[in-house]
This record gives sequence, C-alpha cells and structure tokens, in this order.
Amino acid sequence: MRLHGKRYVVLGAGAFLLIVGGLAANYGAFAHKAKHSPATLKAFDEVFMDQVRIGDLLFHGDPAVQEELGVTLSKTGMACAMCHPMSADIHPHEFPKFQEQMNEFATLREMTNWCIEKPNEGEKIDPNGDAMKALEAYMYWSNRGSKLDPGRH
Ligand code: HEC
Repeated sequence: MRLHGKRYVVLGAGAFLLIVGGLAANYGAFAHKAKHSPATLKAFDEVFMDQVRIGDLLFHGDPAVQEELGVTLSKTGMACAMCHPMSADIHPHEFPKFQEQMNEFATLREMTNWCIEKPNEGEKIDPNGDAMKALEAYMYWSNRGSKLDPGRH
C-alpha cells in the first residue's frame, strides 16, 4: 500500500513536470512568434523617439514641458544638462549599483530623484510617472551602444 502510494506520487510528479515543461515550451514559441513588419517597427520607434524628445526637453530644463507634466525638476535654475552635458556622465548602463552619495544600492530612477532633490532642490517625481519615463528614455538613448555593466563605477 505504501509502495503504491509512492508510485502515485512519482507518476503525479512526472505528469506535473510534463505539463509545466510543455507550457514553458509553448510560451517560448509564442514569444516573438511573428516578425514585426517595417511599418510596425517604425510606429514603435516613433513612440520611443517621442519620449526621447520629451526627456531631452526635461533634461535641458524646458519650463513648458515641466508645467505640462506637473513637475519641478529644479529650483536653482540649474538643468540636468548643465551638470551632465549630453548626459555623458550619467552611465545608465551601470545601474543598479551602490551609489556613494545616497549610501544605498540604487536604480537609475532613484538616482535621478536624488539629483532632483539634492543638487537641484526640486521636487521628487513619481518613479513610474511620465516625466521619469521620458527622462529615462533620453538618458538611455544618449548612451545607446554602451555595454551593460551593472554595478560598475
Ligand atoms: C548641480 C549639478 C547637478 C545637476 C543640475 C544634476 N546633477 Fe545629477 N549628479 C550630480 C552629482 C554631483 C552627481 C554625483 C557624482 C557622479 O556620480 O557623477 C550626479 C550624478 C547623477 C547620476 C548618476 C551618475 C553615475 O554614473 O553614478 C544620474 C543618473 C544623474 N546625476 C541624473 C541627473 C538628472 C536626471 C538631473 C536633472 C533632473 C541631474 N542629474 C541634475 C550633480 C548634478
């Protein structure tokens, strides 16, 4: 009886693995099932570049876009670009990493908010809001081609 019980457990586990394995294989096949058409790719790129342009304006302190998005990135008159020209020393590809200034393991969005609050004396923005996403798009875009190197300094 006890042996039978064990056999059922083994059979059950086998069936479970088969089902899970089958599902995983199927999902693998579903991801990137069809190639995107050039028109779709162009549409995706336009959405992305729109965000990059908004982020570029925010990074350069554009007051109209800040007002539109309801954010105050700086109260010192300093825009991100004045300390980080072309976002060259932003290193988005190194995040997440231990950030000395914060004494914390931080993401790019957390570091962005640190700069808004500390050197800029502005008002912290929603980490998942439109302004943050646009800033992130601009910072990644201007560092495109950089090798992912999380944790680096
Ligand atoms: C008054 C100067 C100043 C302004 C303006 C400023 N920052 Fe910074 N930023 C700093 C300093 C200082 C550091 C820390 C030194 C470093 O890591 O380069 C820093 C670091 C960063 C880093 C991390 C870079 C790294 O590799 O560790 C990011 C990201 C960043 N800033 C984003 C922004 C954004 C976005 C803005 C605009 C909202 C902004 N900063 C505005 C001075 C500034």
